[in-house]
Amino acid sequence: MRPASILGIFALLKAVTGFPGPSSSPRQNLQQRNNLITNQTLTPTTLFEFPNPTWLENFAFTTSGSLVITLIGPATAYLYNPITQTPPVQLFTIPGYTALLGIVETSPDTFYIVAGNVTGGTSAAGSYSLFKFSLSTSNSDIVPTKVLDIPEGSFLNGLEVLSHSTDSLILLVSDSTLGVVWKVDVTALTYEIFIDIPEMKVAVDAPIPLGVNGIHIQDSYLYFTSMTQELFCRIPLHRTSAGWAVGTVEVLASGIFGDDFTLDRYGNGWIAENPHDKVTLVVGGGKNKGEVVVVAGAQDAAAVAGGTRCAFGRTERDKDILYVVTNGGSPAPPVGGVVGGKILALDTKGYLAAVLG
Ligand SMILES: *[C@@H]1O[C@H](CO)[C@@H](O)[C@H](O)[C@H]1NC(C)=O
Ligand SMILES: *[C@@H]1O[C@H](CO)[C@@H](O)[C@H](O)[C@H]1NC(C)=O
Repeated sequence: MRPASILGIFALLKAVTGFPGPSSSPRQNLQQRNNLITNQTLTPTTLFEFPNPTWLENFAFTTSGSLVITLIGPATAYLYNPITQTPPVQLFTIPGYTALLGIVETSPDTFYIVAGNVTGGTSAAGSYSLFKFSLSTSNSDIVPTKVLDIPEGSFLNGLEVLSHSTDSLILLVSDSTLGVVWKVDVTALTYEIFIDIPEMKVAVDAPIPLGVNGIHIQDSYLYFTSMTQELFCRIPLHRTSAGWAVGTVEVLASGIFGDDFTLDRYGNGWIAENPHDKVTLVVGGGKNKGEVVVVAGAQDAAAVAGGTRCAFGRTERDKDILYVVTNGGSPAPPVGGVVGGKILALDTKGYLAAVLG
């Protein structure tokens, strides 16, 4: 399933950087799912397909509901309006890096973004930095500014806001190879390892060296995917006089090879399973809590091949549309071969009601 280039990450980490290699954890017992609650899947609509190959990696919404999409190779961001559906507009390329990864909006139309070197699926430890940019009236004027380097980072990936006040902004960033979450104070320009638990580590028998991947906070829980352990988990966070306390991890579902994901308002997780070519729903509450449903796609099928991130539209008009960006299957080609990275739309209106009854 895996190309040699991705398997090469371990060697590169050890040889080039001198950083310790990743530690790994045994894979947990995966859920047996003989009786799925539904087999009903949604058919995606392709809104735009980039040239082949293009690795779309992540996105965030602007206040007006457009997608700011990051790419791996080159370190470029595009803007796409899913309502007008005019072709994506290139916003910028950050020189000196080969990839843009996690992106998060920290105040209206201001974004932080992870930049680093990922080439052919191989991450260069020590190459990572955070940048910041704001949208302006002219898309061609946008110049991201570097916030800080995080040279201890090995494969910085998902990005989330931990806390934001008038005089402080603290972000979390997942490190997929070290299997930790960093806490980055982008006001004081300091950072430290915040969460370091076995559930975030690379699995011992992993085909690729990726542990914790997507991270999102909702209702004082940090939800995360742990890719090669095939876990979807959450962990409670609470503020203390000394800073932040991290509670006990809860495994919500297993058997999910999750890349980035989104949470809906009911606490359901909608997860892009990148090399497994599907979008998966983990029910967050009620009598079906923990049930897993394949929403779209199937392993090795073209429909959502290489989905890297999904999220619901930001405007009233598209709040039930789940947008998915893909890498076209480039790290793990589907039957039929790699295609250009795609922006897909899944109309989920009525789906939860139909599935959960
Ligand atoms: C889903 O498909 C499987 C295999 O065909 C079948 O055994 C199962 O009953 C189906 N489940 C539902 C809820 O339709
Ligand atoms: C990242 O890649 C760029 C472009 O290939 C290169 O100039 C730079 O030295 C690399 N940085 C690190 C830290 O590997």
